[in-house]
Amino acid sequence: MSTVVLVGAQWGDEGKGKVTDYLAEKADLVIRYQGGNNAGHTVVVGDEEFKLHLIPSGILYENKLCLIGNGVVIDPAVLLEELRGLESRGINTDNLRISNRAHVILPYHRALDQAEEESKGSKKIGTTNRGIGPAYMDKSARVGIRIIDLIEENQLADMLKTNVTNKNNLLSKIYNSSGFDYDKILEEFKEYAKALKKYVADTSALVNDVLEEGKNILFEGAQGTLLDLDHGTYPYVTSSNPTAAGACLGAGIGPTKIDKVLGVVKAYTTRVGEGPFPTELIDELGESIRKNGHEYGTTTGRPRRCGWFDGVIARYAVRTNGLTYLAVTKLDVLTGLDKLKICTGYQYNGEIIRDFPASLQVLSKCEPVYEEMPGWQEDISQAQSYDELPATAKAYLERISELAGAPIAIIGVGVKRTQTIVVHELF
Ligand code: GDP
Ligand code: IMO
Ligand code: MG
Repeated sequence: MSTVVLVGAQWGDEGKGKVTDYLAEKADLVIRYQGGNNAGHTVVVGDEEFKLHLIPSGILYENKLCLIGNGVVIDPAVLLEELRGLESRGINTDNLRISNRAHVILPYHRALDQAEEESKGSKKIGTTNRGIGPAYMDKSARVGIRIIDLIEENQLADMLKTNVTNKNNLLSKIYNSSGFDYDKILEEFKEYAKALKKYVADTSALVNDVLEEGKNILFEGAQGTLLDLDHGTYPYVTSSNPTAAGACLGAGIGPTKIDKVLGVVKAYTTRVGEGPFPTELIDELGESIRKNGHEYGTTTGRPRRCGWFDGVIARYAVRTNGLTYLAVTKLDVLTGLDKLKICTGYQYNGEIIRDFPASLQVLSKCEPVYEEMPGWQEDISQAQSYDELPATAKAYLERISELAGAPIAIIGVGVKRTQTIVVHELF
């Protein structure tokens, strides 16, 4: 038996969905532990593409228990639509369970997300506008509505009353925007409660039961290390903890139960939304990587900012997550480039920094120090083993691993399940 926590090691969209789907074949249980429908995880099965926002990427296999943990914030309308979407494509969703302790995203959270962003003007975060931040704010402020409160009708009516009153005040007095009708939300959410009731469970208990049976468990992180509320490029982060420690809190397990932590990195770097990005390429090369890698947001469709691989970030991700392995995705996207650059450190005030700085001011003045490596021209999209890769691609991967300080377990050379090279088996 084994437990693997899978995390994004950059700014999200590293290909976690694809790697989760690949590993899920040998897992008995897959659980999402944080974030919400700000996530967009793409899985390609045969010729079919699935974009998952809340439901674990393990759902595409029969007979895997798929859980949405207590650390996730759930927009019920989005979840129901995702369920219907999967069912209409013949995917059985009977094995889904959602935590009774997960928090609910309400319409006022989405309105507040938008209003807060607008009020920030040029300092906006570039959120996905899904209400994620305001929902986690309510959780911390101890006024949030949990799934268990949603399905207990009196509790919902009572909590919603206070929340709608307070949020309407906030929206009208601070943000000068319109509020919400209590009765309308109550009726709408009672319907959601009815539809979701059959999925509700104590998911922490379920995970721990499966642990005791000695089975394989995969924790599917959303977002990425640099979007982590504590370790990311604050305030340009999300409002949860995507790093590995978040898996314990968000799934309801102890840290002693985690065996391996897999960090997913792209062979280059992307970021969607605002905030610092030292190795960003604001030129034709950046544009061409965006085009070749289809770097447009899975959730919002926004173009992703693209840049070179950043070894400082990779090493930071290894430290803050305790990564035992890396999965390097989208290596195929770099095919055809004459030379590749890889960032080994940052130059700041005449010194070389190798630890990712906390200060955004320092970060904005950091100049990446690059090492140049030869590229490869051969098509690698059909490579099935490490040995089949060109020597220059292997050298590039070895340098990534060396700079990060963790061995590579998985390499992605295309969108399909079959376009995956395994160097170390995790289950
Ligand atoms: P996630 O949020 O980390 O799950 O990543 P997304 O699904 O948002 O974005 C990753 C994109 O890259 C998706 O369109 C995937 O289909 C695609 N992808 C994943 N791995 C590979 C790979 O190894 N090669 C190529 N070319 N595409 C990949
Ligand atoms: P997956 O799981 C990439 C980014 C947003 C914004 C910031 C805060 O697909 O990797 P939020 O709506 O969470 O308050 O936005 O975080 N962001 C992501 N970027 N991938 C994601 O998820 C993201 N989820 C949030 O673009 O910069
Ligand atoms: Mg994504």
